[in-house]
Amino acid sequence: MNSQLRREYLDALGLKTWTLRTAHGTADAPSLEIASGATSAAPAAVPAPARDVSAMREAGVDWDELRARVAACTRCSLSATRTQTVFGVGNPHADWLIVGEAPGAEEDRRGEPFVGRAGQLLNSMLHAIGLAREQVYIANVLKCRPPGNRDPNLTEAAECLPYLERQIALLKPKIMLAVGRIAAQNLLGTEKTLGALRQQVHRFGLSQVPLVVTYHPAYLLRTPTEKRKAWEDLKFARDVISRV
Ligand code: URA
Repeated sequence: MNSQLRREYLDALGLKTWTLRTAHGTADAPSLEIASGATSAAPAAVPAPARDVSAMREAGVDWDELRARVAACTRCSLSATRTQTVFGVGNPHADWLIVGEAPGAEEDRRGEPFVGRAGQLLNSMLHAIGLAREQVYIANVLKCRPPGNRDPNLTEAAECLPYLERQIALLKPKIMLAVGRIAAQNLLGTEKTLGALRQQVHRFGLSQVPLVVTYHPAYLLRTPTEKRKAWEDLKFARDVISRV
């Protein structure tokens, strides 16, 4: 990113003199890097330019119509194996939008994102930064469960992302939190690792919503030693939104 554009982003966010708060007050920290969210068009994630065009597909659609379109969707083969679609849940005026990968077995059964064990941990993570589940909006890159919880493929993500993009346009969140590598890569159109994407402010799509990346709660359940890093990411995101 050229330095002028970077300065404009910093100005817009009021982030010229960025410091990261610690539990003991305000600590010296490196200045905030604004990452360019759409640098590489990678085969494993939907390229950002394609997403910007496809964002128009649901243009002008309101919440009710969008929900109906998702419920009736047969744009990819996951419609044949799902129990039901999982649209998203939460406050339609939320400042925070949490985006995961795809519904799992429990979500497919109940029609709501993050209601299994990973969902319980997600709720605790939100609580840790003072947010109740009801205050935020929660959605996934995919609205349908991939069989056996396999990773979404490129076609599925490309067909489904316009729904999320319309949700974002209606919601107008102040910040997006991508949980997990798959969500982050698909939202940012990159193949970079999660480790390379966290602790930066990315920008999502045409709306340029600030986007922060952290670990997926299911991964944290398997690897609890990484919870400390997730906590750092949550504090980072909280600092970002406090400056928007
Ligand atoms: N994992 C996700 O990424 N999303 C869900 O809704 C549930 C588990």
